Amino acid sequence: MWCAAIVCFAFSLLLIVAGVVILIVFLAVKPRAPSFDAAGATLNAVYVGSPAPYVNGDMTVVANVSNPNQKMDVVFRSAAVELFFGGRRMAAQALPAPFVQRRGQSQIISLHMVSSQVALPPELAVAMVNQVRNNRVVYTIRGTFKVQAKLWFWHYTYWMSALCDLELTAPPSGVLIARRCSTR
Ligand SMILES: *[C@@H]1O[C@H](CO)[C@@H](O)[C@H](O)[C@H]1NC(C)=O
Repeated sequence: MWCAAIVCFAFSLLLIVAGVVILIVFLAVKPRAPSFDAAGATLNAVYVGSPAPYVNGDMTVVANVSNPNQKMDVVFRSAAVELFFGGRRMAAQALPAPFVQRRGQSQIISLHMVSSQVALPPELAVAMVNQVRNNRVVYTIRGTFKVQAKLWFWHYTYWMSALCDLELTAPPSGVLIARRCSTR
């Protein structure tokens, strides 16, 4: 009975010490998720076919992926970027993974998003034609990343998703005039 109590006590103490050590390490390192931003974008082409609302498009996005951590490297185990118009997926691209990002490092990745014969609901096709005519086209890009953080011997992995609303002028050579990004 006494023996069991002592073992229990020692074990609880060990758990508490381990918890405190992890907390201190976290407070010292302050792990932060990588950031994803659109540094630039060019809308090269949009063709809305008629009568069937099939759309072809061509857009170049210059993405900026960075690791804001000053004490921790991260590994991107997988990375994919998708392009949406009005909630419809227009194009997708996977990035070569895995790739490592050292502490404080950022990386510029040029993405060529090509939409080929994407079927749009008629009202979205009309919205697209109108936006091009008004010289203000709004797209959304979503980056989905599987991130592995490395803290000495300790590795942990999580999924991160970044959304950017991009506002561009009409093609050809539509330029990025506004962007808003958020990360989850
Ligand atoms: C990329 O993002 C990092 C961190 O936010 C920033 O310091 C750097 O200037 C950006 N690079 C470009 C080309 O926008």
